[in-house]
Amino acid sequence: MEKKRRPLLAANWKMYKTLSEMEKYLSSFLGLVAGIDDRDIMLAPNYTCLNRMVELLNGSNVKAAAQNMFYQDEGAFTGEVSPGMLLDIGIDIVIIGHSERRHIFHEDDELINKKISSAISHGMTPVFCIGETLDEREAGETSHVLENQIRLGLKGLKNIDIHKIVIAYEPVWAIGTGKTASLEQIQEAHRLVRDRVRELAGEDIAENLRILYGGSVKPANVKDIMSLDDVDGALVGGASLEPESFARIVRFEDN
Ligand code: PGA
Repeated sequence: MEKKRRPLLAANWKMYKTLSEMEKYLSSFLGLVAGIDDRDIMLAPNYTCLNRMVELLNGSNVKAAAQNMFYQDEGAFTGEVSPGMLLDIGIDIVIIGHSERRHIFHEDDELINKKISSAISHGMTPVFCIGETLDEREAGETSHVLENQIRLGLKGLKNIDIHKIVIAYEPVWAIGTGKTASLEQIQEAHRLVRDRVRELAGEDIAENLRILYGGSVKPANVKDIMSLDDVDGALVGGASLEPESFARIVRFEDN
């Protein structure tokens, strides 16, 4: 399947896997995806696995990413990890504003905007997550919610900065629920995201922007989702936890 933009298949392991489980996963996963060079593959484990994962991925076609970070360089911020600390161990991709950060840890658009700006000013790629809740969708507010999240999340950024961002559209009601959004809903939301970015940052940046879909992506639905015009990859939770399953997703294999 020929895509306009280089696909990115990203695993978000959330709060799963110990160090030894991560090592066991990689010992199988790296073989399963060896030689794939027409798409980007990314794994985001918890912080305690990151350093070792970077060592184990060295020389492979898979990159490690962080699930979150704070925006300050250092200071009295108990429990937080800075951009410099991630860069120090070789991490330059970071998920920002995941719906679990927004809803469980109460991250708001302003904080997410600071994290995105900080990631960019440190030369990192933020994977900026947006998405509506079920209530918002049922109230007909999806476009409004996505537009607001984009406007506030990217506030103050220059076009050149927006160029470095990846956006992940993840309808909150589809995350971890087994309910995938319909292909029409996904394409409509992705088109809207690209249109808004076009208004903010111009044609070139919008056309090059990679927009991932997230929310119950699995081998059985990845091929159809990836066939949509404005879908450039996937952010995968549950189905990324087994190496065979995520490798099939990376290959867009539905059986
Ligand atoms: P899910 O999670 O694939 O388990 O729905 C996606 C995500 O939270 O990024």
